Amino acid sequence: MATLNDIRACVFDAYGTLFDFASAARGCRTEIGDDFDKLTALWRDKQLQYTWLRAVQNRHADFWQVTGDALDFAMETLGLQGAELRDRLMALYLALDAFPEVPALLRRLKGAEMGLAILSNGTPRMLDAVVKNAKLDGLFDAVLSVEEVGIYKPDRKVYQLAVDRLGIPKERICFLSSNAWDAYAASAFGMQVVWCNRYGQRRERLPGIPNDEIKTLAELPALIGS
Ligand code: LAC
Repeated sequence: MATLNDIRACVFDAYGTLFDFASAARGCRTEIGDDFDKLTALWRDKQLQYTWLRAVQNRHADFWQVTGDALDFAMETLGLQGAELRDRLMALYLALDAFPEVPALLRRLKGAEMGLAILSNGTPRMLDAVVKNAKLDGLFDAVLSVEEVGIYKPDRKVYQLAVDRLGIPKERICFLSSNAWDAYAASAFGMQVVWCNRYGQRRERLPGIPNDEIKTLAELPALIGS
């Protein structure tokens, strides 16, 4: 039974939702050693913090710079050194693994004539690279970067960008994110939201209530009747 009605487009967050950001440090496991999962967590936490802090300070820098700055912080914290390792990790960020269920899910939704888009903090170059590397190009009606509005999620201008570019009312859009704060913000904005809670996070104490919660995107078609 579908729990979300009359959905005309699914809009996906990129990092952590379609693409596994942990695959970068995993790809350098030999060089990093046992701390590779610590590096992933610290790198990601710092990357998100920098987006929020820059937004509050009105000092935007694009996600490539923020991702590099966060990596420098994380590597220094864990005592990891080397320009080569840094370059390799950044290059791997352009070639992250898609989560295993993603290609088949997108093809199924596309076959059901569902509108498909990405809405992400990533720069156009980062998103283009990761989509092409995962052989998902051609599946999306739009790959939308916050660079078009010059501010990071969860500013409402970002969610409005998807509405404007897809030409679909927000109530007819199903937004998907594994980041709880992103899911809650899209819900507060007025989209229908499915929180893909891959990481077993607790619910946020923030405005918004996701319509549903799933563990992987494979559970999505049943919710939207596709
Ligand atoms: C993104 C981050 C928030 O893709 O995961 O926008």
